[in-house]
Amino acid sequence: MGDYETLKAMVEAQLAERFAQSEPLPQQKLVDAVKYSLLAGGKRLRPVLVLAFCQALGGDAEAALPVACAVEMLHTYSLIHDDLPCMDNDDLRRGKPTNHKVFGECTAVLAGDALQAEAFGCILRSGLPAEVRAACALALADAAGINGICGGQQIDMESEQRALSETELMNMQSAKTASLIICACKMGAIVGGADAGQLEAAVCYGAALGRAFQIRDDMLDEMSDPAMLGKSIGKDAKNGKTTYMTLLGVERCEELVQKLTDEAKLSIAAFPRHELLTALADKLCERKN
Ligand code: IPE
Ligand code: IPE
Ligand code: MG
Ligand code: MG
Ligand code: MG
Repeated sequence: MGDYETLKAMVEAQLAERFAQSEPLPQQKLVDAVKYSLLAGGKRLRPVLVLAFCQALGGDAEAALPVACAVEMLHTYSLIHDDLPCMDNDDLRRGKPTNHKVFGECTAVLAGDALQAEAFGCILRSGLPAEVRAACALALADAAGINGICGGQQIDMESEQRALSETELMNMQSAKTASLIICACKMGAIVGGADAGQLEAAVCYGAALGRAFQIRDDMLDEMSDPAMLGKSIGKDAKNGKTTYMTLLGVERCEELVQKLTDEAKLSIAAFPRHELLTALADKLCERKN
């Protein structure tokens, strides 16, 4: 069974291969913009979760690779759009100038749009059984849409005008961040042949991990530095956002991350091969970027 770095390397290789081409296209600038953000590194958490869940249930990680690439494409689209001047107006992402800084706003919008479409194409063109492809595409659509990332991002933008309550903040964070993390766990479990109980466990793990992940993201925005993080800091305060840090403060955030990490680990403790998923939750709990 592979460790995090092994699975991450599989994803990196597959992503690079997917956009390899011999001849330039008339719309080459769009391809360059897509590759610029997609191949810029990043933790690759979501695709690794796909592969790790597939393996934890005894499946073959290779078979899940197209689904893993798809979730990373969708995630990268969400980052490109999140950084746009009309949204968080960020200059730095994955240690490099943001997509719109290099390619301009129109191309950055189209690069995000293209990545979203390519994500679904990646799943639907894979050699997986038709019912597995359909289930994964549906899970990804739900995670991306009105009740997922887009809905969460809408509330996040509105939170600049009005402070959110703790429940509203939790719902917003669940939609904008946890939904795609849950989806990655779910899709990996589907490819790995999960039964109903295992699928539910995957969703519980993703929900707890996803919440912990965004709380840590909010903490790092105040407490890290750009060199370590690969993105600018202090943006949430500057944009006047309600975050876990503004509502709970650092100590309660730290406690909550620990509690959610324990919850995540408990939910998959009965899996035949849960070691990587357990280690991954611990690793994220202490992450510095
Ligand atoms: C950043 O996601 C956006 C959030 C949902 C908090 P990541 O922290 O996973 O970013 P990369 O993929 O490692 O760049
Ligand atoms: C963004 O949350 C979540 C997405 C859906 C992209 P943030 O705005 O906090 O993410 P960062 O801090 O810019 O990566
Ligand atoms: Mg944002
Ligand atoms: Mg942002
Ligand atoms: Mg953030």
